[in-house]
Amino acid sequence: MDSLHLDDNTRLLVLTGAGVSAESGIRTFRGADGLWEDQPVEKVATPEGFAADPRLVWRFYSERRAAAGACEPNAGHRALAEWERRLGERFLLATQNIDGLHQRAGSQRVVELHGSLFRTRCAHCTRKPFEDRTVYPVGHLERCDECRGLLRPDIVWFGEMLEEENLRQVRDFLLRGDTRLVFLAVGTSGAVWPAAGFVDGARGVGGRTWLVNADPADNTDRFHHFVQGRSGEVLPRLAVFD
Ligand code: OAD
Repeated sequence: MDSLHLDDNTRLLVLTGAGVSAESGIRTFRGADGLWEDQPVEKVATPEGFAADPRLVWRFYSERRAAAGACEPNAGHRALAEWERRLGERFLLATQNIDGLHQRAGSQRVVELHGSLFRTRCAHCTRKPFEDRTVYPVGHLERCDECRGLLRPDIVWFGEMLEEENLRQVRDFLLRGDTRLVFLAVGTSGAVWPAAGFVDGARGVGGRTWLVNADPADNTDRFHHFVQGRSGEVLPRLAVFD
């Protein structure tokens, strides 16, 4: 297996997807046993789906909350947290995952591109999103204290914009001219934008690009290096600190 060399002159941007949590027991979205195989995505992961049947949507995300809360971070999450301890400001983790497992493994510089399962916000007013770990009973709907509108999970659904502040953090890190950029994508199918395009952003500033994935991703050919395997097995052995 090739080694990912990291030295004092390197900064590392990591992008993770559902595959990094698969070994913790969290289902991925696509593929044979994927969540979207048995759940029409437009019903539970779009604003239109929420407007049509908010109870179904809350049931889905309450189940996800319960499942994620019962899982533990795995060796892949822990390896990334360890790299951050060594690299400090020269490390940034952008995740498409909403399960909170990176933070529980000790990662601190985390950009949650798709929001968090454990935050709730108002679907109508601008009240700040708040931490919420409640697993609501089936059929229950919660209303906003301020405007009485329906509350919803603080998750970016299909057809919605990502938080500009999150994209800015990734862009600023990509464009930092002080060090040599390495970009590593882990456990993501490369099917969802804008994250699928980060590899091209990294190449655009001369970065070396790595993919660690159980199967080839849609954009594998955009990477300089592809290591096929499970992240919990590959990541703990991948990095060499020079
Ligand atoms: P996907 O389910 O599309 O892809 C998961 C990828 O992880 C696949 O390419 C698998 O081969 C790979 N994989 C599975 N187990 C692995 C393991 N143990 N180690 C390494 N790789 C493994 O998930 P994402 O790419 O994260 O968005 O999906 C992106 C977005 O699409 C999600 O954030 C979600 C979804 O719709 C929203 O809900 C808004």
